[in-house]
Amino acid sequence: MYDNKVESSENNINSTGKWVFDAEIANRFTDEAEKHIPDYWKVIELTINILKDNVPKDGYIIDVGCASGNTLLYLYKQGFNKLFGIDDSQEMLKVAGKNLSKVDKDFPSRLFRSKTFVQNMTFDAIICNWTLHFIQERQEYLKAIFDSLISKGLFILTEKTLQSQITENQYILFKQNKRLSNEEIERKKQQLEGVLNPLSVRQNIELLNKTGFYQTDIINARLGFVTFLCIKP
Ligand SMILES: C[S@@+](CC[C@H](N)C(=O)[O-])C[C@H]1O[C@@H](n2cnc3c(N)ncnc32)[C@H](O)[C@@H]1O
Repeated sequence: MYDNKVESSENNINSTGKWVFDAEIANRFTDEAEKHIPDYWKVIELTINILKDNVPKDGYIIDVGCASGNTLLYLYKQGFNKLFGIDDSQEMLKVAGKNLSKVDKDFPSRLFRSKTFVQNMTFDAIICNWTLHFIQERQEYLKAIFDSLISKGLFILTEKTLQSQITENQYILFKQNKRLSNEEIERKKQQLEGVLNPLSVRQNIELLNKTGFYQTDIINARLGFVTFLCIKP
């Protein structure tokens, strides 16, 4: 596993009360994602279907914010064999490495720990589901993604976007239906403040346009969680 992170993993200590992807979260990540992310599996399935239809099996694909490796595992099972993952959290990568080494013992060597995008690699497709909203230097990160894609390469991006109060109330209902208590819902909301920074749908599209992704389709949207499909010209 390639580690080009400068800071120590002690940053994962939740001393500020803010949201961190630490060991506790990493070990129960899928459950957390299913309870807090509308259409979590539906978006992963859509991502895989699009890549199956449009990227050759030996095409280079990277999952940005690969977390526990759910998407990479399904891509591998579909026969893709040039798969890479990048994540900022050592603990998430530890879980991803464990899950993915069950199908390919060399997989962990293709998981990179880094806050910034990989350099000197070119990809046929880049996935960034539910991650860019955590990245401070969004524009620089997007530019690096754009530069690393081949012409006609695909970029699939899912972001939590700004919600109106009406939408937020429905999102709270979604979580209550997942049996989360009001205290748990409120605590996570506070932990994420200033850590997950949503933009409006329009701001996201403007940012993608500015980066050079002139063709952007919305391929899924639920309760403010929006999936964009971008094709590099
Ligand atoms: C909600 S999870 C993403 C879920 C994942 N894409 C999936 O399909 O299951 C967000 C991930 O982004 C990672 N992350 C946060 N900041 C990052 C950064 N600057 N670079 C890379 N990954 C980052 C976190 O460690 C976490 O694993």
